[in-house]
This record gives sequence, C-alpha cells and structure tokens, in this order.
Amino acid sequence: MPDAKVALPKPIPYTGLLDKYDSFEVTPYIGSEFSDLQLTDLLEADNADELIRDLAVLVSQRGVIFFRNQNIDDAKQRVLGSKLGELTGKPQESTLHVHPTEAPSSETGEEILVLQPNKGINNNKELLSQISSRSSRGWHTDITFEKVPSDYAVLKILSPPTGGGGDTLWASGYHAYEKLTPAYRAFLETLTAHHSGEYFKTVAAASGHGIVERPRGHPLNQGDYLQADHPLIRTNPVTGWKSVYVNPIFTKSINGLSWDESKSILEFLNQNLVENHDTHVRFRWNPNDVAIWDNRSTYHTATNDYTATNREGHRVLSIGEIPYYDPNSVGIFEALEELQKLEIK
Ligand SMILES: [Fe+2]
Repeated sequence: MPDAKVALPKPIPYTGLLDKYDSFEVTPYIGSEFSDLQLTDLLEADNADELIRDLAVLVSQRGVIFFRNQNIDDAKQRVLGSKLGELTGKPQESTLHVHPTEAPSSETGEEILVLQPNKGINNNKELLSQISSRSSRGWHTDITFEKVPSDYAVLKILSPPTGGGGDTLWASGYHAYEKLTPAYRAFLETLTAHHSGEYFKTVAAASGHGIVERPRGHPLNQGDYLQADHPLIRTNPVTGWKSVYVNPIFTKSINGLSWDESKSILEFLNQNLVENHDTHVRFRWNPNDVAIWDNRSTYHTATNDYTATNREGHRVLSIGEIPYYDPNSVGIFEALEELQKLEIK
C-alpha cells in the first residue's frame, strides 16, 4: 500500500484526439479496434505525447485495443511501450520489464520477449500439462509475481499459425469487480494476496540458464525471489476504477486467511473470471496485428489449438507503479454513470 501521506494520482481524462480514426467497440465491456491507424504515425506526429497519452487512457478504459496490420518495428515498439506509462504518470524508476526466463543474449534485445510455440514455458511440456489441463487455467495478468508489476503491454504477432488458431482472449477486471455484491466487495477490499512465479526457475533451468536476477524494469524487481503481495482489489491510477487483481496462474493464497478460506475464495474469483463471457473479448490475429492492453485491469489467455510452429510474437512489457487500493476510487459502472450525468447537464 502507498504511504498515506503521498497523494494518490487523479484519473486522467481522454481528450478525444483519436476520435478522428475509424474504430469500434468489439464488445460493450472490453476491447476496441482501430482498422486504419498506424501506431508509427502517432509516434512521429508533432503532438506525439498528447496522442500517446490519449491512447494510454483509452487502453486503460477499454482494457485492450487492437490495431490491424502495423508497420511498427522492435525499436519503436519499445519506445511506445515506455511512453504509454511515462505519459500517464508512472514512477521514474519504472522502465521496461526483462522477463526472468530471458536468455542472456537475445537477438531482439532483452526488453523484447519473443513468443514462439517452442520457446520458454511452451517448450516445457511437463510444466505445461500441470497448469493447462483445462484451457481456462491459462488466464493470467502478466508478471504479478514482481513487486512492481506491469501497467501496459504491447504485443505484435508477426505471423499467426499457418492454418489458423492461436487466438488470444482478454477479460475485464473492472467487470469482474462489478459482478460481486457490495458486501463481498467490501470484504475483498480489505485483503492482499500472495503471488508467485517461482516455476519460472524450472523453465529457465530447462533452457540451460538461470533466471535474470538484475533489476527487471525496476530496482525492486531483482534477485531470485519471484514472489510478491498485492491488494486483492486494485485501483487503476489512469481511470480511477477498481479491478479484481488475482489470477489463476500466479496468485497462490490470500494473506490472513486459512488455507481452506483462501482456496475457496480464489476458486470463486477464478470462476467469476472464466464463467462471465460478457466480460471477455476474443481476437483473431492476422499478420502484424498489434494488441495493447492494461495489465492492471485485464486478464488474458492464449489458445493452444494449433500445431503449426511458425507463430511468432514480440511483446514489450512496461513496468508501472506498486499496486495500491484507493478507498475513494469507484467501480466502472458508477464512474460511467457519473460521466453520463455530466454529459447530460
Ligand atoms: Fe501474458
């Protein structure tokens, strides 16, 4: 939790700079898509900072945004990944994440995680079978085992699998919160949960090297202890909205409860995540499509329904702030209702 004397950030409004580009909401609750906007044009514009700030705010509001057929390269993807958080107030010490399983010399640079069917955890069949006997087990939010986890992720799929498949699904943490009763929310808001990514040590060892122990995007994210405690309900600093912040992959227990109580609540919250398909969006990748999502308020999962080995994606993960819960923040429905009232006046 942040120091009580430190003022919590105020939500950042969207100023409408991207409204001139064609876009649509893929579902009412989560996901928007731009069909005719090149992210490089935003980066090169005279008012690049204003445009990218608005883009970040829109991503935080919609959870995930899709961009078709992008010409952005690794270097510019890194710049974009950094600017999204920098322009929306992330701490100065926060940079881009280096994944703990990253090989010591990576062709793309350590801040680009290359996603391929036979790389990293995807190459560890035994571990994979333990965590993904059901496809619903794959839902997660990136790197919540870090003390300072991610704000934004930028993923470009260079080549989807030949023959189809490999869709990615996202779910809204804001709406996961809205599914709960006020009494249950009030209880969860008092809790913190324990997250662990210790299994990445097995993944790294199987790849023939140890985990990355130097700072992974923040001075607090270093060493070989891949565990952290975070509030169970988290406030997104950009929108000011509350989100459920536990996930089936990394969250192991709820602090201060018995093992049985913790297990039962986590199972309930995981069900709340996977069984509310009105809070999901599914994206079918074409070559060079990009997705940008807010890791503080969404979940995502891969679809392992293909055998082609040519799928390749490049991901940049930005480190944000230490997660916190602001008791004065609100749920997305209440916030949008207030916004509507203001627009009517
Ligand atoms: Fe992920």
